[in-house]
Amino acid sequence: MFFRQYPFTLVTLITLTAFNVSSKVDGPCVRQLTQPFELGEAPTWDDRIKLLYFVDILAGNIYSYDPVTTILNSIQLDGDVTPVVPTVHDTHVFVAGLNRSLVAIRWDPKGSKLQAVATLTTVAKQFPTSRFNDGKADAQGKLWIGTMGPENTNLASLYLITKENIENPKVVIAPANISNGVAWNKANTKFFYIDSPTRQVRVYDFDLNSGEISNPKVVFDVREHDELTGNPDGMTIDEDDNIWVALNEGGAVVKVDTNSLDVLHVIAIPASDVTSVAWGGDNLDVLFVTSARIRLNAEERRQQPAAGSLFAVYNLGTRGLPTHYVDVINDTNFPA
Ligand SMILES: *[C@@H]1O[C@H](CO)[C@@H](O)[C@H](O)[C@H]1NC(C)=O
Ligand SMILES: *[C@@H]1O[C@H](CO)[C@@H](O)[C@H](O)[C@H]1NC(C)=O
Ligand SMILES: *[C@@H]1O[C@H](CO)[C@@H](O)[C@H](O)[C@H]1NC(C)=O
Repeated sequence: MFFRQYPFTLVTLITLTAFNVSSKVDGPCVRQLTQPFELGEAPTWDDRIKLLYFVDILAGNIYSYDPVTTILNSIQLDGDVTPVVPTVHDTHVFVAGLNRSLVAIRWDPKGSKLQAVATLTTVAKQFPTSRFNDGKADAQGKLWIGTMGPENTNLASLYLITKENIENPKVVIAPANISNGVAWNKANTKFFYIDSPTRQVRVYDFDLNSGEISNPKVVFDVREHDELTGNPDGMTIDEDDNIWVALNEGGAVVKVDTNSLDVLHVIAIPASDVTSVAWGGDNLDVLFVTSARIRLNAEERRQQPAAGSLFAVYNLGTRGLPTHYVDVINDTNFPA
């Protein structure tokens, strides 16, 4: 009895002491959640089923990650896959970019069986080597999704895809080089956009009902910050309208105040190629971060063994806005 209680008391004391210490730590804590992938991208949280989705683009894989059980499931499509966007219909129906096509998918994300895939539309027929890249749904479920050409060519566009225009999606920004992160402010009056090689984040005035964007301005430019390197890639926003930007080849996520334009926080990630960010978790206060290792040589892979993994950043003192689910599938193209 005594022998059993003694170690228990010791463990309790150590645990309490550790808790007291960690509760005084004033700063973020980064944790590696998965093994490395080649080109992780497009994290997104579905609050209805409490799962985080992301892709490994060139492998054609879509992953679901359960932060409570740490279980990872995946499906594979035939081609380059990004992004994956949960739909308004139910938690087993998704829209994804597959090469230059938008597809609807039926998949129970707590398993690894792809049940159906249906092509909804194909863009950029004049640029056969381009493919879809980052994209998200707005508060009305319309999809803002961009393409990229072969690296560093301006063959890319940002498209606005709705139920009505899905046969012939509207080009909203062109030319772009590598169309990447998108985000909206809480009031849905501003649209933030990244074309990676510009090294900038731009803000546009945004009309949610018409989907019109206008009056672009620069809110962040990597070149104006000596302490930062790399190109902006994926992006999200928090409840105070600060943007959180992944820096590819920059090894960090930066938090930018979109009013004062100050960089408020630089969070180092143990991977030089940080690709995207999304809020998730029960309180939308965990920042999930994807990364890549595809560009790294053998020596760099040894130096950055976690590069390519999914990470979580805790203790950031803020939270995100809920994910919007996409609403572009109609009755005739619903995956059976
Ligand atoms: C996507 O492109 C790759 C490479 O060209 C090709 O092998 C694959 O079949 C394409 N996928 C679809 C669904 O067309
Ligand atoms: C549904 O979408 C398909 C394209 O995927 C289109 O051909 C059809 O016209 C749409 N139907 C309606 C009712 O909008
Ligand atoms: C975009 O690509 C074009 C064509 O290669 C190039 O001329 C231009 O400088 C690029 N823009 C940026 C910002 O990299």
